[in-house]
Amino acid sequence: MRTNVIAGNWKMNKTNAEAVEMLTELKGLVKDIKDVKIIIGAPFTALSDAVKAVEGSQIGIAAENVYPKASGAYTGEVSPVMLKSIGVKYVIIGHSERRDYFKETNEFINEKVKAVLENGMTPILCIGEHLEDREAGKTAEVTEKQIREGLAGITPEQAENIIVAYEPVWAIGTGKTATPEVAQETHKQIREVLRDMFGKVADKMIIQYGGSMKPANAPELLAQPDIDGGLIGGASLEATSFAEIVSAARK
Ligand code: PGA
Repeated sequence: MRTNVIAGNWKMNKTNAEAVEMLTELKGLVKDIKDVKIIIGAPFTALSDAVKAVEGSQIGIAAENVYPKASGAYTGEVSPVMLKSIGVKYVIIGHSERRDYFKETNEFINEKVKAVLENGMTPILCIGEHLEDREAGKTAEVTEKQIREGLAGITPEQAENIIVAYEPVWAIGTGKTATPEVAQETHKQIREVLRDMFGKVADKMIIQYGGSMKPANAPELLAQPDIDGGLIGGASLEATSFAEIVSAARK
């Protein structure tokens, strides 16, 4: 059986002081929860302090982006080696905001996935269709392409250590969630693609749902057989709402 993984994605929010305050509160709220994996994605500037703030707890810290080279003349970028050196364990890759605003391609995202794995961290690969794709009946086609190209050249052994986050773009930050049935249907299709690529390992892989997941809708979404957790934006900014979602993910 898969353990649910609940990850927060703070996006471009929180100063260091705010990050430490939230994580200190969260640590207390989830201290007895051992059957859910908990991750918080923080902006680069807060990562070091965030790692220190969660010391001694089961909470892992994620970066929200990475550049797929170890070092060099890439002004303004941050490498996987740097992230690993401060205790970051996960990296969110290919979020729709990065695909849309910063024109990240599946090929570039694939380089990032590989660089993160090579440095012993876990990639959280985000995929998901836009509203026009869904309305045109192209959801399965779009997500399949994102998976196949984003995970090209990955071995089944590596795949076991990859988290996929399915986030329909029309549900991100809009308050519109996919219904549990619609989300489950797409999660099932995604797992079938992963099975075709990686065989039985697909049954061990975590597929999170993301897009306006809140304490109120989390129980129904997390009850679906192929939904193994959530990637949470808005509701991860406050310790209490995030902890409620973590509680809903207990089996
Ligand atoms: P949301 O964001 O929960 O605010 O919709 C999810 C995400 O973008 O990861």
